[in-house]
This record gives sequence, C-alpha cells and structure tokens, in this order.
Amino acid sequence: MAAEFLVSSDVDGTLLGDQRALDAFSHWLEQRRDSIRLVYNSGRSVDSLRQSVSSTTLPEPDAYIGNVGTEIEICAHDRGLDDWPSLKGRWDPDDVRAALEGFPSLEPQPDIFQSPFKVSYFVFDATSEELDGWQAALDQRALAVQLVYSSERDLDVLPQGVNKGSAAAHLADYWRIPSDRVIVCGDSGNDLSMFAQGFYGVVVGNALPELAVLKSSRVYHAQQEFAAGVAEGLEHWISKADKDVTALA
Ligand code: GLC
Ligand code: MG
Repeated sequence: MAAEFLVSSDVDGTLLGDQRALDAFSHWLEQRRDSIRLVYNSGRSVDSLRQSVSSTTLPEPDAYIGNVGTEIEICAHDRGLDDWPSLKGRWDPDDVRAALEGFPSLEPQPDIFQSPFKVSYFVFDATSEELDGWQAALDQRALAVQLVYSSERDLDVLPQGVNKGSAAAHLADYWRIPSDRVIVCGDSGNDLSMFAQGFYGVVVGNALPELAVLKSSRVYHAQQEFAAGVAEGLEHWISKADKDVTALA
C-alpha cells in the first residue's frame, strides 16, 4: 500500500470557492483516498464545517480542526480530542475582551463566531503598530495569547501556541504520521502557522498576498485556483515522495 499522508487543508477560499475546481479535486482524491487522511482545518467551528460537508460536494474528511486550531475532532470518535488545546499559560476569554474593550476599531464578531478558546473581531486594514498595541494591552493582564490577523479583516485572539499549525502537528503525532508525510494547503493569513511547522505546503493560485509571499523549497505555489490548486499541489508533493521511495529501493 502507498505510504500514508496527512493532508490538512483550509476550506473557505481553498477547497471552497469554485465548483468545477472542487469536482476536479474530488475526482483526484478518489484515486488516492486510501493513502490520505483528510483533515479540514478552518477558522470556522467544527459544527459549521460539518454543515458545509452535508450541503456541498466537499468529500467526507477523516478529522476536523475548527476555530483556528482550537478544536480537533476525529470523525470516527465523534467528539473532540480531550487533551486539546493544551494551554501554556493563562487564558481567560472574558479578560481578553476586557483588555481590548477600549479599542474602538475592534468590532467583536457575532456570537456564533466566538468560542471558549477563540475571541474574534473585525478590524479593517490593521497596521503592525496597532497589532503591537493590542498585544501589549493583553500582555499587561498577563494573558498568554497570540494574535492572528487574516484577510485584512479578521482578528483572532487565541491561547499562545494554539493555532492551525500546532493543531495539525498534534493530530499528526496522534496518528503517528511523520512530518515529511504531512501536506498543508491554504489561501490566507490564518493558514500561515501551518506553513511554519516544517510540513510540505501548497498555496493555491488565488491566495492572498499574506501567503503568496511564502518562499521555501517546501512550499509549492499552484498555478490553479481553489480546490484545483490543492489537487495540483498534492499531486506535486505526493508524486515527488513516490519517486524518492523508488529511488531508494
Ligand atoms: C473564519 C471564522 C472567523 C475568523 C476567520 C479567520 O471566518 O469564522 O471567526 O476570524 O475565520 O480566522
Ligand atoms: Mg481560507
């Protein structure tokens, strides 16, 4: 049997966005399904991702990572992983809100987008000085948090060290899949942490400048957009790994 890969892909703007591209991806995946553990890794909640799987032609995954890495659910278990997220310091969502209350440009996202381990705002075109200022206000309360800014609009406050990338790494460990068998795919800022784990990466052709600037021999920039770009990139890395195995044999 072919070696197993963990594919951790963002959903909105990566797999979803173009129906023909999704059809091409689904067809590609069918040929490879036995050798891939498919994980949807999104800023949305796991519940919202499940709804998308039932209302679109997105293939059934093996696991979900939701709310920007803060929840992990393996489909066969039907409930979240107990030991995730692992907190490295003080996390208190009410205190996060209190620390950021005095910044009028921060508009809290609707309640359905908030979760116990993610406090999110809308804020347009934030500068790095503003981001530093918000981080300083959070540090003053001794909160161990990180800020993730995406699409020049979404600001997520997360427990320090918990993000899409560390969640994918946790799942790879859980399934005992080595990091050179993990491929991550994305299109925007909240995907950056997935590319910082030493995994192989795929940036879809329609990615925002936040990701388009990634330069590494482990990052493949697809020509094609949305899910067709995902299939193009996965084929690139998987056929390369197959060739390396043949060369060693
Ligand atoms: C999704 C979430 C939103 C978050 C954004 C970026 O759109 O619904 O809460 O801010 O992803 O991570
Ligand atoms: Mg996206």
